Amino acid sequence: MKSYIWTLPTRVFHWLFASFMLIVFLTDDDKLLKYHAAIGYAILVLLIFRLFWGYFGPKYSKFKDFSANKKSIKDFIKNIFNENQKYIGHNPLASLVMLGMFVFSLLAVFTGIIVYGAEEHKGILSFLNSSFFKSFDDIHEFFANFIIFLVVLHLIGIFIDKVLHAKHETVNSIFSGYKKFDTKEDISLSIFQKLVALLFFISLIIFTLYNLFFNSIFIN
Ligand code: HEM
Ligand code: HEM
Repeated sequence: MKSYIWTLPTRVFHWLFASFMLIVFLTDDDKLLKYHAAIGYAILVLLIFRLFWGYFGPKYSKFKDFSANKKSIKDFIKNIFNENQKYIGHNPLASLVMLGMFVFSLLAVFTGIIVYGAEEHKGILSFLNSSFFKSFDDIHEFFANFIIFLVVLHLIGIFIDKVLHAKHETVNSIFSGYKKFDTKEDISLSIFQKLVALLFFISLIIFTLYNLFFNSIFIN
């Protein structure tokens, strides 16, 4: 039977995060840096939202539901061919990859802001002027490449899950919110969670428009 697992804010977060990542990689060119930085900042707002959601969000989005420890990962791999294997939220390896994406995206944003200040003399760190900070260029690129690696793992994981555990309809769940299990596992949001999520997404739109079209202190 169908159970509602990923609520609307989680799904909106996912597709904005994936789309913004794509844009940030398409704009890593000198002439497009303004857009690169603005969308990089939008990713920062998404990550702050996800941090909030990880502590105050619904059950399966909470970080305490991310069982990315050695024992759970071992159990998961040992039983991966068992067709009755069942994880309602993220499985342990998926949790690890996702936590990795959050941490490395945050690191990419911070090093991006440093390079933008040190090399372009723009943004909130435009006063940075030493070769030490200029060398963050390579570190920024390393973090970005690591994110690509994690996204590839994510997509391989989804494909393997589709082959081995198709009956839960996991791929579909990031569009519709629903997975299929033999028991009812539905969740719902409180008014507080709905309001804060709405507020975050409105702030994201205003902040990104400010960065793109006004004399933003983060971009100029
Ligand atoms: C066609 C492309 C994609 C598909 C079909 C897809 C599918 C999914 C699915 C099904 C889940 C939930 C998995 C579960 O139930 O454990 C998920 C979660 C996630 N995906 Fe993707 N994904 C795609 C692209 C991406 C990209 C490009 C990124 C990052 C740049 C990404 C980042 C994430 C993250 C961070 C989560 C965890 C969401 C959360 O807990 O808030 N995905 N994805
Ligand atoms: C998750 C967020 C981000 C990702 C994945 C990312 C990724 C990248 C990539 C792949 C490059 C090209 C590296 C190269 O070929 O040298 C680059 C360059 C750059 N990024 Fe980002 N970036 C992010 C966020 C930011 C932010 C927020 C800023 C500034 C506010 C920024 C500023 C820069 C600058 C100034 C460069 C040019 C460095 C150079 O001269 O090569 N990035 N970024």
